Amino acid sequence: MRSQLIQFSELRRGAAREAGRIKRRALVAGGAGFLGSHLCQRLVADGYDVVCMDNLDTGRLENLSALVGNASFQFVQHDVVHALPPLGRFDEIYNLACPASPPHYQRDPIHTMKTSVLGALNLLDKAVDSGARIFQASTSEVYGDPSVHPQPESYLGNVNTIGPRACYDEGKRSAETLFFDYSRSYGVDIRVGRIFNTYGPRMQPDDGRVVSNFIVQALRGEDITIYGDGSQTRSFCYVDDLIEFFIRLMRSNLVGPVNIGNPVEFTVRELAEIVIELTGSSSKLIFQPLPADDPKQRRPDISLARRELDWTPAVDLRAGLGRTIEYFDGLMRSPDNYSIPASASLAS
Ligand SMILES: NC(=O)c1ccc[n+]([C@@H]2O[C@H](COP(=O)([O-])OP(=O)(O)OC[C@H]3O[C@@H](n4cnc5c(N)ncnc54)[C@H](O)[C@@H]3O)[C@@H](O)[C@H]2O)c1
Repeated sequence: MRSQLIQFSELRRGAAREAGRIKRRALVAGGAGFLGSHLCQRLVADGYDVVCMDNLDTGRLENLSALVGNASFQFVQHDVVHALPPLGRFDEIYNLACPASPPHYQRDPIHTMKTSVLGALNLLDKAVDSGARIFQASTSEVYGDPSVHPQPESYLGNVNTIGPRACYDEGKRSAETLFFDYSRSYGVDIRVGRIFNTYGPRMQPDDGRVVSNFIVQALRGEDITIYGDGSQTRSFCYVDDLIEFFIRLMRSNLVGPVNIGNPVEFTVRELAEIVIELTGSSSKLIFQPLPADDPKQRRPDISLARRELDWTPAVDLRAGLGRTIEYFDGLMRSPDNYSIPASASLAS
């Protein structure tokens, strides 16, 4: 009887939504971070009621300043490692909660692993209760240091299970496993995107990622630190392109995992040279040893996203870097707004 009543009220909610009377509700875990804050803004702009859940470990409330006071937006401070507070039902859940850059996720590796595994479990349980579609922000790091280039989704990876990056790589691999087991066991409607390097405004200047490192060093006129000889390659996707992919994936029938990134490959040295040119900096390049397990090459095979989602990156590296440099320049001109440590480390 109870399940019939639930089904009936579901049908009424569905019909009301169709008629535009009830707004769709989305939960964005990790919504105060770089990607999550852009996603919250996009969902509110698309007419959703959004609950952003974040423990503010690497996220910042300033990232959400455009949404403060918006009746369609709510912020809840909570660590996804713990059972979720009662927040009502959701139509869509996005799991972005996890520190994403090596210095951040290596700071407390055990908590990083717990975030990926227990966070996924708690959010998947919420998806079961809500009947929600749920998205997992997975990563190219599930491929480890790949021996296949570019990496298709079918490549099973080459991950060191005991290295300093393993808390993140293996945590994300376990989360994917949980997503697919919840799908098989409970019929949860999952979507999994494997994100390759993404950059743009609201990256943290001290996050040790290669784009932010280079921009901060160039804007300060400091030498640019390249780890290794700079011949290792990366591909860089602008944040707006990535958010467009999230939305298309969630509105499609494609489950994934789906690679997402910009397949145009640059060497790390080329990136440094473009940043110097765009900032007009007098910085020189200096070279330091490569950190452990740093992948030599990283490029997504995005044929699945192109074919099934008609998605293709629209913002080229110079245009995206220009917008990102403008953002960092603004931050650095108002130092009260953000304290940037004297030296950032560990490019990736
Ligand atoms: N940016 C990229 O290039 C990239 C690449 C691959 C995957 N991803 C994934 O995308 C997601 C977002 O990445 P980002 O670049 O925005 O990183 P970010 O560090 O800016 O954002 C992560 C957010 O999650 C929050 N968080 C961390 N642990 C949490 C916990 N236990 N409970 C609640 N909130 C928690 C942080 O405070 C932060 O707001 C991450 O899951 C990351 O693994 C990002």
